[in-house]
Amino acid sequence: MAFASLLALVALAATVRAAPSSSSVTCSDGTVVPDSMCCDFIPLAQDLQSMVLQNECGEDAHEIIRLTFHDAIAISQSLGPSAGTGADGSMLLFPLVEPEFQASNGIDDSVNNLIPFLSSHPNITAGDLVQFAGAVALTNCPGAPRVNFLAGRKNAVAPAIDGLIPVPQDNVSTILARFADAGNFSPFEVVSLLASHSVARADKVDPTLDAAPFDTTPFTFDTQIFLEVLLKGVGFPGLDNNTGEVASPLPFGDTSTGGNDTGMMRLQSDFALARDERTACFWQGFVDQQDFMAQSFQAAFEKMAILGSNAADLINCSAVVPQSVGPVTVPATFPATTGPQDLQLNCTSETFPSLSIDPGATETLIPHCPDGTEDCPSVQFSGPATDSP
Ligand code: HEM
Repeated sequence: MAFASLLALVALAATVRAAPSSSSVTCSDGTVVPDSMCCDFIPLAQDLQSMVLQNECGEDAHEIIRLTFHDAIAISQSLGPSAGTGADGSMLLFPLVEPEFQASNGIDDSVNNLIPFLSSHPNITAGDLVQFAGAVALTNCPGAPRVNFLAGRKNAVAPAIDGLIPVPQDNVSTILARFADAGNFSPFEVVSLLASHSVARADKVDPTLDAAPFDTTPFTFDTQIFLEVLLKGVGFPGLDNNTGEVASPLPFGDTSTGGNDTGMMRLQSDFALARDERTACFWQGFVDQQDFMAQSFQAAFEKMAILGSNAADLINCSAVVPQSVGPVTVPATFPATTGPQDLQLNCTSETFPSLSIDPGATETLIPHCPDGTEDCPSVQFSGPATDSP
């Protein structure tokens, strides 16, 4: 299917919001919702922002977005309900079980951040709390969609089994099979969900690194991740023998990107999905296609967020999701020191967009004047950042 048709389909799916009906309720702040239960999420959003997220697309937002996935994907059509019941809050309700699984290494901060809200907002189930917190976290990230939110998930009665959450060393067949078993996700939807890695940094893949970003713009929900994972790898930001990690195109860090100076890390699974014949065209098709990427992510995320529930049994509380911070309007660019010659493209049916190359950091050099003093006009030097080892 042409990408334009796909865009139209996901745009339609992504914009469905509850129409006010005769039985609408008006919450105390004036928000109109289909059921009074939705009103409980308005103070929850405020508390999440003030106590955890700080209205930022920072570490806590990233971790909660990851948690939505780890809670929801723990369900299996082939193994049945005893394996797990999807987006059911089991990560919060059994904090000494699921967060301890290897695939969830590093998830404990988000679990610890959310557990207090179970008692301070007792009308809200654990599954609703996780997915609503994820929806709020996304609104803090420029470029991320404002996702619809359905409320009414049942609380888990038992923890999910180990082995249901993909790990970066899984091959593409294993990853696609896991998503299909969890909820009939197509390869396109799997790639769409990985737009989340545009706001991702790893603490645990390489034990010597904290917050190693997956792309040059880890605080923006943009398409750089889809471009940068296609570039050839040249090295590792830390150790080079970590499970689930492959060489990255920018391993040495670059303070000009606005992040910290930790080099970029690349997951083996992202690398493989970007190049596999089943997913390469979907991956490549998101490069510099901000709206298409955001709408595709939204549709897949909303499907993921209700795994284990029937949509018809839930209440559409989308109106209580806060407004998003705003769009991303800048085009994708090759990071400084890289360019089209570094692309590893396995999708031949689509034309790769023409992108400019980031000029890198602008540094001010103090020249020596002809008379030997330094008291002459400064010279602007525009070139790649020079803080690589
Ligand atoms: C093939 C599927 C996936 C694999 C193998 C995978 C693997 C990983 C790994 C290994 C990390 C780094 C954790 C750390 O060391 O701190 C990570 C981070 C992250 N993942 Fe995924 N992931 C997958 C899909 C998803 C999905 C579907 C979402 C959300 C919809 C998601 C959201 C995130 C986020 C937001 C982070 C950053 C967390 C932070 O910065 O603290 N991932 N992922």
